[in-house]
Amino acid sequence: MSRVGWGVAGCGWVARDHAVPALRQVPGACLVALHDRDPGALSRMPVGPRATTDLAAFLATPGLDAVYVAVPNSAHRQVVEAAAGAGVAVLCEKPLAADVADAEAVVAAADRAGVLLGTAYDQRWHPAHVRLRELVPELGTVTAVRVVYCCWLPADWSPDGRPHDNWRVDPARAGGGAAIDLAPHGLDLAGVLVGEDVAELTALLQRRVQTYPVDDGALLIGRTSGGVLVDLHVAYNCPDALPRRRLEVVGTRGTAVAVDTMGQTAGGSLTLFRPEPVDVPFAGTGPFTAQFAAFGAAVAGTAPWPYPAARDLALHRLLVQALDTATDRTGAAL
Ligand SMILES: NC(=O)c1ccc[n+]([C@@H]2O[C@H](COP(=O)([O-])OP(=O)(O)OC[C@H]3O[C@@H](n4cnc5c(N)ncnc54)[C@H](O)[C@@H]3O)[C@@H](O)[C@H]2O)c1
Repeated sequence: MSRVGWGVAGCGWVARDHAVPALRQVPGACLVALHDRDPGALSRMPVGPRATTDLAAFLATPGLDAVYVAVPNSAHRQVVEAAAGAGVAVLCEKPLAADVADAEAVVAAADRAGVLLGTAYDQRWHPAHVRLRELVPELGTVTAVRVVYCCWLPADWSPDGRPHDNWRVDPARAGGGAAIDLAPHGLDLAGVLVGEDVAELTALLQRRVQTYPVDDGALLIGRTSGGVLVDLHVAYNCPDALPRRRLEVVGTRGTAVAVDTMGQTAGGSLTLFRPEPVDVPFAGTGPFTAQFAAFGAAVAGTAPWPYPAARDLALHRLLVQALDTATDRTGAAL
C-alpha cells in the first residue's frame, strides 16, 4: 500500500471522533499534521503529528500529500483554496460550502491547481450502502428513493457535553439549518445508489421546535434525470431515541430498506423485500475508513476517485437553489 501523508484542518467533533480514528486504520495512511485556529481543539487531539494554528505552516509540513478539511461550512473555501494553492489533494467535508459562490470557488481552486478534490460524503462508503448498490439490479425498474435522516440538535448542542461553538445554527456560517447539513448525504446517496443524479429539486422548510433562526426540519422532493422520484425528510427536531434514520430504494420487483445505516459508523440493518423480507448481511470497515482508503488510493495513483467534484458541485447548486426558494409554513422565505 503506497504511503500517503495526511493533514487534518479543523480538529473539532468529526475530525477528532471519526476521521482521525478512521485514518489510523487505513494501511499506508500517515497522519503528519493537524491544524485548527483554536489551540484548545488541537490539545484535545491525539498527540503525535505536528499541530499548529498557522495554516501556512501546516501546509508546508514535509510529506503532506492530502488534507482533510473539517472546518465549519463557511470556512471551507479559505482552507481549500490555501491547500490547493500548496499543491495538495483535498478531501473536503460536506456541504462543499455554505453557499454556491464559495462552492464554485472551491472547485475552481482545485481545477486551477490541478489537485484532486473530493467531497467527504462518507455514507457512499458505508458497507450496507455498498451492498445495497449491488442489489439495485434485482429491484426491477427503480421508481423511488426515500430517505429519513433526522436528529436532535438544540441551540446549545455539543458533541461531548463540553461548551461548544454551535455554528450549525448560525445562518452565515452554516448556510442554513437541518436541510443544508443533512440533505446533502441523501441527495448524494440517491444518485450513487441508482446510478443517475437528482436533476430537479423542491424544498419545504420548517421551524417548529428549536429556537434558532435556521430551519429545524425540511422535506425535499426531487426527480432524477431518468425519472426516479427522491424524497428526503431531514430534521434537527427528532429526539435521537426515536426511529430517525431510514433509506429505501423502491423498485417494480423489490424494495431494499436500510435502517440506522445513515451515520458515521458501520452499523444498522439491510433488508430486501421481494416480497418476503430477507436480511442482507454486509461487512466492511466503517464509512470513514473506507472513504480515506479510497481517496488515499486516488492520491497515490493506484485507483481512480469515482466522484468528480463537478458532479458534487452540480448537486450543491441544486440544493441551495431549492432552499433559497423554499418557504416555511407561514409562506415566508426562511
Ligand atoms: N460527514 C459527516 O458525517 C460529518 C459529520 C459532522 C460534521 N461534518 C462536517 O464537518 C465540518 C466540521 O464539523 P464539526 O461538527 O466537526 O464542527 P466543529 O465545530 O466540532 O469543529 C470545527 C473546528 O474547526 C475549527 N475552525 C473554525 N474555523 C476555522 C478556520 N477558519 N480555520 C481553522 N480552523 C477553524 C474550530 O475551532 C473547530 O475546532 C462541517 O463542514 C460539517 O458539515 C460532517
